Amino acid sequence: MVDKTQYIWIDGEMKKLSESKVPFLTHSFHYGSGVFEGIRCYKTENGRAIFRLSDHIERLFFSAETMGLKINFSQKEIEEVIKKLIKKNNLEECYIRPLIWHGEKMGMDPVDTPVHFGIAVWEWTKYLKKDEVKVGISKVMKTHPQTTVLGAKISGHYVNSVLASRETKSRGFDEGLLLDFEGNIAEGPVENIIFCKGKEIHTPTIKSILPGLTRASVLTIAEDLGYKIFERDIKPEELKDFDEAFFVGTAVEINSIASIDDFYFTGKDGKTFKKLKEIFVQVIHGENDKYEKWLSRL
Ligand SMILES: Cc1ncc(COP(=O)(O)O)c(C=O)c1O
Repeated sequence: MVDKTQYIWIDGEMKKLSESKVPFLTHSFHYGSGVFEGIRCYKTENGRAIFRLSDHIERLFFSAETMGLKINFSQKEIEEVIKKLIKKNNLEECYIRPLIWHGEKMGMDPVDTPVHFGIAVWEWTKYLKKDEVKVGISKVMKTHPQTTVLGAKISGHYVNSVLASRETKSRGFDEGLLLDFEGNIAEGPVENIIFCKGKEIHTPTIKSILPGLTRASVLTIAEDLGYKIFERDIKPEELKDFDEAFFVGTAVEINSIASIDDFYFTGKDGKTFKKLKEIFVQVIHGENDKYEKWLSRL
C-alpha cells in the first residue's frame, strides 16, 4: 500500500518515510489524542486534483482545536505542503493522511506537550473490495455523542470503528453498520450511509455521526437533481421501506449496499445510486464544471 511513498512531511520538513520514528512515550500513541483527515487526490484530464481539500483542512483544524493541539501553520500553508508532497512522491492518484498529535508526555492533560504535525500520501485504491457489500448491524454501539465531540476526527474515536468492523466481519459481513444510543442507524466504521425511496433521499441526522464531506457533496448533487432530502432518525425496522442504500465517504467513495443483516435491497434497478455515482465520478475526475469548485488543482 505504501510502497510507492518515499517522502512524508513532518513538522515543516520533507523526510524519507523510513526515517520517521515515534518515541514510545508519545501521548497520542497511548491515549488516542491525535486528530487526522483522510483526503483523496484524483487524476483528471488537466492534471491532478484534490477533492474538497480546503474543507478537509478546515475540519482538521477544528478537530485540532477540540483536542487542544496548537498548530504553527496556516490552513493555506498545509494545503500547499500537501500539493508539494504529492508531486515529490510522484503519485498520480493517492490518499492523503495528515495527522496532528501530542508528543512525549504521560497523564491525561496534555498541556504544554509538544505538538507534531505529519502528512503522508500513498496509493490506496478501493477500500471496500466489492461493488455491492453485505452489511451487518454491529453489536458495538456508536460512541454516544455526549462522551466526545463526534464532529471532530479524533484518533481515539476509531477504537469504536475497529471494534465494530472486527465484530461484523467475524460474522461474515463485508462491512459493519453502527446504531446510535437510541437505536437509530448512525453510520459505518469509516463512512456515512444514504437510503433512497423513489425521488426521496433519507439519511441519518448529524447527531451521532461524523458529518462527512462526501455525504454533503452527494446530498447536494441529489438535491440539484430534484431529489427531496430527509435528514432524520432512521430505525433498522424501516429498511424494508427503502429501494436502495449506499455508503459514502473519502475511503469508500460511493459504494452500493446489497443487504443489511438479512434484508436485501431487491427488485429495484439501483437507478438513484447509478445516477449519483455517475455524477460523483465525473466530479472527482474534473469532468463536471458545475462542481469544479470542489477541486483543488495541483
Ligand atoms: C466515522 C466516519 N464517518 C464518515 C466518514 C466520511 O467522511 P468524509 O466523507 O468527510 O470522508 C468518515 C471518514 O472520514 C469516518 O471516519
